[in-house]
Amino acid sequence: MIYRALYDTVLRHLPPEEAHKAGFGLIRAAARAPGGTRALRRAFAPPAAPVARVRALGLDFPGPLGLAAGFDKDGVGVLGLAALGFGFVEVGTVTARPQPGNAAPRMFRFPDERALVNRMGFNNAGAAALARRLRVLRATTSPGEVPIIGVNIGKTKAVPEEAAIADYVTSAQLVADVADYIVVNVSSPNTPGLRDLQSYDKLHPLLRAVRAALDEASPRRRVPLLVKIAPDLADADIDTVADLALGMNLDGIIATNTTTARAGLHDAAAVAAAGPGGLSGAPLKARSLEVLKRIHARTGDYLTLISAGGIETPEDARARLNAGATLLQAYTAFIYEGPAWPRRIQQALASPEIAHAPIPVIPALGLAADLAGSPSRASVIWSQPLADASRPLGQRGTSGP
Ligand SMILES: Cc1cc2nc3c(=O)[nH]c(=O)nc-3n(C[C@H](O)[C@H](O)[C@H](O)COP(=O)(O)O)c2cc1C
Repeated sequence: MIYRALYDTVLRHLPPEEAHKAGFGLIRAAARAPGGTRALRRAFAPPAAPVARVRALGLDFPGPLGLAAGFDKDGVGVLGLAALGFGFVEVGTVTARPQPGNAAPRMFRFPDERALVNRMGFNNAGAAALARRLRVLRATTSPGEVPIIGVNIGKTKAVPEEAAIADYVTSAQLVADVADYIVVNVSSPNTPGLRDLQSYDKLHPLLRAVRAALDEASPRRRVPLLVKIAPDLADADIDTVADLALGMNLDGIIATNTTTARAGLHDAAAVAAAGPGGLSGAPLKARSLEVLKRIHARTGDYLTLISAGGIETPEDARARLNAGATLLQAYTAFIYEGPAWPRRIQQALASPEIAHAPIPVIPALGLAADLAGSPSRASVIWSQPLADASRPLGQRGTSGP
């Protein structure tokens, strides 16, 4: 209600990127005030409200819905965002070198279609700066307060394609010890050539190198590794990525990033005025669900599937879980619906049908023995109060339902 009024009177009249800065600035300021995260949590949820917890990637998530990459690229507001009810926050995309991104304007609203078009171009302060910030956060915040933080890494724009692997490896090495999981982003439409890295010949060596870099940088804790794909891949290419992920013992797939398609946007002049970029929000819903189903048909519960793209309602969220997603992410609905939205979705998902869903049985497919033993295969949803949800990095993943 209050957000709706704020959106209608102020935010809607600001350019989208300024509105994002203003809204995010308020969340950060509230979280920084003494007792701020507790106050935020209380403001947006009754303290004993049930939530659907998820165990995946060797971690205990206090709810299946997380914030998708791109909102908090530099990891400056994770505490406030988690206090609003996100079960995890994916920061980034960060790149090995800091870069300004594309020229503004680079974000465009399509409120009638509950959609955004953006061509931010990975504006970020670099992987080293993010690592420093998260290290300080973990050192200065009580462990129960720090949410699960995924780090999404991409290619520096100025780096030629031949050097892409080394660039990702640099980022992976820098953030390995501060990330609960890592995402290799090969699906943003706003860095020239990036999406070509989704082909088998390029993706396989890239993921192998990042996996090796993570193992070397974090020998005592295996950092889960996921890949994020575009909704615009042909079905055969989706199958290839799914097979590759299984074959490489990857931990999961995030499906999907934004689309270069414009189907679902009705104002041709506004579309032309916005120009190139990735479309997110409601128009992405159907394709994102379709991609999820396709991957799940191929991978079963061997991979942690994180579904993103057009999730707006509890029904959307539930449909993704029913279709094989273990976790969910959203960005655009958060922009349009405001700070009470994440908690609303989490609580709706704690309804009995979800909370008491049977534990998925891992089918014996004769895959390598270590597949079945990997913690990422187990995805269990159950209901529990939020209070004891978070535990420090390195100490999670030991509890059961
Ligand atoms: C303004 C904006 C910036 C984004 N930046 C990134 C990014 O840096 N890295 C990334 O992997 N995805 C990025 N995304 C994509 C989202 O993480 C998400 O995959 C996509 O928006 C679909 O979810 P949604 O429909 O809930 O927004 C961005 C999306 C938006 C709207």
